[in-house]
Amino acid sequence: MTTILVTGATGRVGRHVVQGLLDAGVGVRALVRNPALAALPAEVELVQGDTYDPTAVSGAAADVDAAFLLWPAFTADGAAEVVTALTKQVSRVVYLSSMNVSDADPAASGVWGELELLLTDAAAAWTFIRPGGFAANTLEWADQIRTGNVVRMPSPNAARSLIHERDVAAVAVQALLNDKHIGQSYALTGPEVLTQADQVATIATVLGKPLQVEEIPLPEARHTMITQGADPAFIDNALAYWHSLIANPEPVTTTVEALLARPALTYHQWTKDHADDFRG
Ligand SMILES: NC(=O)c1ccc[n+]([C@@H]2O[C@H](COP(=O)([O-])OP(=O)(O)OC[C@H]3O[C@@H](n4cnc5c(N)ncnc54)[C@H](OP(=O)(O)O)[C@@H]3O)[C@@H](O)[C@H]2O)c1
Repeated sequence: MTTILVTGATGRVGRHVVQGLLDAGVGVRALVRNPALAALPAEVELVQGDTYDPTAVSGAAADVDAAFLLWPAFTADGAAEVVTALTKQVSRVVYLSSMNVSDADPAASGVWGELELLLTDAAAAWTFIRPGGFAANTLEWADQIRTGNVVRMPSPNAARSLIHERDVAAVAVQALLNDKHIGQSYALTGPEVLTQADQVATIATVLGKPLQVEEIPLPEARHTMITQGADPAFIDNALAYWHSLIANPEPVTTTVEALLARPALTYHQWTKDHADDFRG
């Protein structure tokens, strides 16, 4: 029987990757930090370990046919050792990267570009899944929506092509199951561009609850994010990027539809799937 190693299996994308593989009749082994809390289907073989530990990754990857790799850190520190350990055991790797990666200069494309280069250098039979922003990022508004009617945010007119985590996972599952995807990089987005204010309006429609958007000035947003412990350089990049999306909306790719032979899931669908997360 084919067995596939899934890292990040308890996360938003990973849970759907696991289910998609099980639905396809494939054996799944999951590397998890805490098996007691994993809450994965009973058929999944759980291996306790940390993705940043090359020995744990090597052990988990023994005798598998392919691996889904999620690198949860903001830096590539320690990734070279882990990629070496992984690819010594299994050459077929589907890596959850990001649309931030530029083929012209992966080395300057953040942690995702660095991981892609490590996999390329390891001569792995790779596929790079490069999604844009996840619709799930808007769960950051859930507290405000559960407890009130006003959603405060910087740059409400920033226009984004957010993707449903189920679509990211469905593409990853296809890539894991079919070698024709070896050597391909897939830039994935949702099917439409919506401003952040439009996204809040969508949540209001799905919940049947009036919601207002209030703009937070950029200096206040920066201050709040710093007090929440985020890295200042990351904050400055993120705020500048969101602001740039007012004049230059994110692109929409047709890759999900081309690969899955159905339209990419809308933000409206995502909101219906997560309505309970926004209910008080
Ligand atoms: N959010 C976006 O807009 C976006 C866009 C493009 C790409 N991405 C990439 O997508 C990935 C996140 O995917 P996601 O949202 O599905 O993840 P998530 O829901 O944040 O879950 C993270 C997963 O990683 C696991 N994990 C974290 N640290 C670990 C460690 N040290 N050892 C083992 N497992 C560990 C967690 O397992 P536990 O159960 O142990 O916590 C969990 O399964 C990141 O690599 C991110 O860069 C995100």
